[in-house]
Formats: sequence, C-alpha cells, structure tokens
Amino acid sequence: MKYLIANWKMNSVNLDLWEQKFVDFINSHKDFPQPSEVKLIVCLNLYDYFVFSKKINTSKNPIFKNISLYAQDVSQHEEGAFTGQISSKFLANIGLKGSIVGHSELRENGDSETNVYKKGLKLKEEKLSNIFCIGEDLETLKSLNKKSFLLNQLKAFCKNGLEPDLLAYEPIWAIGTGIEADSENISSAVSIILNFLHKNKINCPVLYGGSVSTSNIDEIISIPGLDGCLVGNSSLDGEQFAIIASKIKS
Ligand code: PGA
Repeated sequence: MKYLIANWKMNSVNLDLWEQKFVDFINSHKDFPQPSEVKLIVCLNLYDYFVFSKKINTSKNPIFKNISLYAQDVSQHEEGAFTGQISSKFLANIGLKGSIVGHSELRENGDSETNVYKKGLKLKEEKLSNIFCIGEDLETLKSLNKKSFLLNQLKAFCKNGLEPDLLAYEPIWAIGTGIEADSENISSAVSIILNFLHKNKINCPVLYGGSVSTSNIDEIISIPGLDGCLVGNSSLDGEQFAIIASKIKS
C-alpha cells in the first residue's frame, strides 16, 4: 500500500472545482490506482471539512469516495480555556480520521518536541491516527547534524507506547520553496528513519514532503523505502493531485 497526503494548509480551495478536476482525471485514466493500492488523505481546515466530507459521502466515484479526511493540527490539551484550539475529542466527534502533528510550520510557531508528543498522545486517546512530521533546517543540514537531529525528533515522539501511524520526512528548506530535496538526501534520511523504526520494532509507512509536484514525483517515488508523499502546493488543484496519485502505485 502507498500513501498520498494533501495538505491544503490555510489556502482557499474551490471544493466543487477540485472534485470535478480530480474525478475528470480519474474517469479519463482507467488505470488510475485503486483504493487498495494508494490511500489518499486530505488534511483540510474544519470549515472546508463539513462541505467536503458531504461531497465525499455522497459521491458516486469510488476513488473520490475513499479519500480520508484529516486535520492539520490538534490541541495537546483535553478541553478548557484554550482559545482557537481544537481537541482530539472534537476531531473524533465530527468524523475526522486523524491529524498532522509536528509540521514544521507549527514547530516554527512554537511547537516543541514535548508539545508534538502530547498532541500525538491526545490523538491516540481518541483512537485517531497521527501523521508525524520531522525534518531538519538548512543550517542543520549544512553542519552535517541531520542524523542526530532526526533521531532526536524520533526519540522524543516514540516513547511510552506512542508511535507514528504515518511518518513524513519533510526537510524544512524544501517546504513551499519549489526546491525539492535531491534523491541522495531523501535516501539518507529514509535510511536513518527506517533503521530507527526497525530497531524499535515500529512498523509505519515513511513518506517524503517538500515541493513534490507532477514533474518530480516519478523520481521521488522511485526512492527505495519510501511509501508515498505529502504534498502542499501541488495538492491545491484536483487535477495536479490526481496526476501525482496516478504515479504512486504499489
Ligand atoms: P509543499 O508543502 O509541497 O508546498 O512544499 C509540503 C508540506 O508543507 O507538507
């Protein structure tokens, strides 16, 4: 099984158009991968969630219908005076399947390793899945500290029975910049991550994220050990996302 995750962030997506372009592409490509081959996930904001989940539930297209919806963040708290935050209980009650935790855009805004761990625990309490994001910044890469940096992020999350359900390696310098990491860099990160997971008897798919597009997906997905991608900008258009999905097969 392969995985493709869309992260719409705080972008306005025309939901009707997205669905139409996505479904049109599938209808004209009979060899489009089946839900048993590629799991498609869209991480969206809650405002879009209500409209988009209705579209998915009422769709006649079996591939569109199988898209799972996740949040982009979750509170580390149970409930209470936390203005603007959303609890895992809330996410579960309305029907989301899980959430991203540890995205670099949230880490840059103050999410520490401890916050990310607590958010993971909150999701687990509600039996929701986590998409755990890790990745180094340019300074860490240049100072050749990538390995210890990634291991530190992994160790801070994988403890007391908490494990990633999906893990995305997203080098910060490649996110939203149009500069995708080169294959060698992705491969070395994947092997650091897989080694750690293996040693700790954790079995979870490893994805890459950072400027993935229709033009580099073939090269990225052929990297051994990668189980899929997390896509930001190129997921905002239903056709682009469908093209990327069509290239990700088990
Ligand atoms: P990008 O975003 O594809 O626009 O670089 C990826 C991400 O933030 O996960």
